[in-house]
Amino acid sequence: MKSVVYITRKIFPEAIDIIGKVAEIKLWESESAIPYGTLLEQVREIDGLLCMLSDKVDAAVLDAAPRLKVVSNYAVGYDNINVAKATEKGIPVGNTPGVLSETTADLAFALRMAAARRIAEADRYTRNGLWKTTANPGLMIGQDVHHSTLGIIGMGRIGAEMARRGKGFQMHVLYHNRNRRQDIERELGVEYVATLPELLSRSDFVSLHVPLTEDTRKLIGAAELAMMKPTAILVNTARGQVVDQKALYQALKSGKIAAAGIDVYEVEPVAADDPLLTLDNVVFAPHIGSASLATRTKMAVMAAENLVAGLQGKKLPNCVNPEVYKWGKG
Ligand code: DGY
Repeated sequence: MKSVVYITRKIFPEAIDIIGKVAEIKLWESESAIPYGTLLEQVREIDGLLCMLSDKVDAAVLDAAPRLKVVSNYAVGYDNINVAKATEKGIPVGNTPGVLSETTADLAFALRMAAARRIAEADRYTRNGLWKTTANPGLMIGQDVHHSTLGIIGMGRIGAEMARRGKGFQMHVLYHNRNRRQDIERELGVEYVATLPELLSRSDFVSLHVPLTEDTRKLIGAAELAMMKPTAILVNTARGQVVDQKALYQALKSGKIAAAGIDVYEVEPVAADDPLLTLDNVVFAPHIGSASLATRTKMAVMAAENLVAGLQGKKLPNCVNPEVYKWGKG
């Protein structure tokens, strides 16, 4: 009998082709995320789940799926999944690391440049016919990106790509990470900073590249924002919950920091009436860090390959809880 899989959003045909060869596919066709209650219903008789980071795959979902052999997340981050519970049930969880690092760093860098050079504001100004005098020396004065100090929090794959981009702009690159990365220091000439306060106080740009865990939740709050330079710019393409969004609003509104570039929010989609959206000194994006055609296609193929491996009882090519195999399960 063919396995049955549930896919919680329309994904690229390359992935559907891979999965369709081994399983019957059920698909959430809508453009909006599958409601939690529907997901709970849909998992009852499936063998594999391919889900998005917007889907909460908690203990209740895992318990509602007695046949489930694999969960494959279409993302590198997996904070939406109760991995401990999946491990306890012997279910391997897959993710899509590596293929999106450069694309996500590109977006972080774009947000940084847009915030520093006020690109979004300048676009609105020009588009709205507000430009009345040319060659005005004081118009839309921004900050230089080149030769500034970039502070990277989280020196994983995406953080390293960010460092590489910073070096291309002759920036002095600092980083703070749980473990010192001497390999990257040697390769890129970046400077390790042992404490977060030191990184925050020395950086012109602070860029977040940590996964969301209990240790990183609200890592940047009012106290941390107060340590930053008044000219500093914060860029977040990691997870919204890493920053205290209310404190960020206050810091931006009161001029404690100069600007921000934000791709991720405490709650997504961000509410249209969120006060943050009223600020001119912020460049916003709707969680599109990995959104290039090539990268999203590679992610879809990786997620499909993880799913198929799990259905076939093989090790997932990219598994976040490989300990499931130690116990002979999964
Ligand atoms: C991820 O893969 O975790 C990203 O946030 C998706 O864009």
